[in-house]
Amino acid sequence: MATGKKQPMVAFKGIMKRFGKVVAVEKMDFEIEEGSLVTLLGPSGCGKTTLLRMVAGLEEPTEGDIFIKGKRINDTPIHKRNLGMIFQNYALFPHKTIFDNVAFGLKYRDVSSADIREKVKRALEMVRLPGVENRMPSQLSGGQQQRIAMARAIVIEPDVLLMDEPLSALDENLREEMRREVDNLQRLLGVTTIFVTHDQREALSMSDKILVMKAGRKQQEGNPESVYNEPSNHFVADFLGHSNFITGEVVDVSNGHVNVRIETGDVLFAENKGGFSKGDPVEMIVRAQRFDAFPREEFEPVEGMNHFEGRIKDRSYMGGEVSYFIELGADREIHIISMMRTRLYEIGEAVSVQVSPHHCHLIHME
Ligand SMILES: Nc1ncnc2c1ncn2[C@@H]1O[C@H](COP(=O)(O)OP(=O)(O)OP(=O)(O)O)[C@@H](O)[C@H]1O
Ligand SMILES: [Mg+2]
Repeated sequence: MATGKKQPMVAFKGIMKRFGKVVAVEKMDFEIEEGSLVTLLGPSGCGKTTLLRMVAGLEEPTEGDIFIKGKRINDTPIHKRNLGMIFQNYALFPHKTIFDNVAFGLKYRDVSSADIREKVKRALEMVRLPGVENRMPSQLSGGQQQRIAMARAIVIEPDVLLMDEPLSALDENLREEMRREVDNLQRLLGVTTIFVTHDQREALSMSDKILVMKAGRKQQEGNPESVYNEPSNHFVADFLGHSNFITGEVVDVSNGHVNVRIETGDVLFAENKGGFSKGDPVEMIVRAQRFDAFPREEFEPVEGMNHFEGRIKDRSYMGGEVSYFIELGADREIHIISMMRTRLYEIGEAVSVQVSPHHCHLIHME
């Protein structure tokens, strides 16, 4: 049947992996578009590495099928899957030259030695380390070694590049630099990439699509903006970004908007994106950066915006931004992160807090 939909590069259908009693991956359906960079994001132990190892052929699925370019590969041996791999501890061979390290994956393929030299040269140019063929790994910095690992992975022109926390061993600055490097290289080559991380910033900044996982289950998939701005449940909202969770009840519904009475008794407006009805118990999710605080005496409410009163309970100054905890009454506090456009607020100071209904994201109470 012609659906007009492009065939995905990688597809998981009902994939499940059990280790004895532990279910590492639970009934996963997921597709990866050709040329895209997808991250598997989730806390330690949620099954990211297991999923990647099943693609690589290092682990056999207990149930379900994996397809690459439409072909089922469950029974295809590792060396016949055309994959590039970079793992966190996938160190270079210390006693081999950079040339031999990068050429490693080509040796078992039908490639002439002149072609091998040419391909290695090109791969080293790609990772911006031309001419280091004769050096030993120990003569390169950590970041440079990581680039050599990338050269080794791409030299075989893989269908899919698999990366398992490749940056986690690097220090923060180098990590940032390498993040951009991986991103640029991936786009330059257009190679379909599955990138595993538990770092939300890494996932948000690099991905075409993010798959958020928890305890072996898919929680949400989507592009970075949709996963961040429209989390489908409490876990996703909590895992990505600084979220406030405010419980309440829908008290009114009218053309595209809902009114929610929150714990403090205040009634806030939100957009009705989830088919909410009067009486529904809900959780309102608001990112800490979306609130604005004003000195109470200077505040002038803006039509169509939500606002309520509070008192500064705690603050921490972080240079460019300030983190405030604001007490609203009814034992309820919110966390806001302010860009410090004016002065610092004092502990105990009365403030008015404003937030746009657009930034009040509702989910059904779990
Ligand atoms: N070979 C194995 N034998 C038994 N249990 C395993 C094995 N490999 C993984 N597990 C279990 O499967 C679950 C998923 O592990 P996995 O390594 O895929 O998690 P992860 O998301 O990569 O975590 P991390 O972020 O810590 O690397 C965990 O509960 C883990 O203990
Ligand atoms: Mg892992």
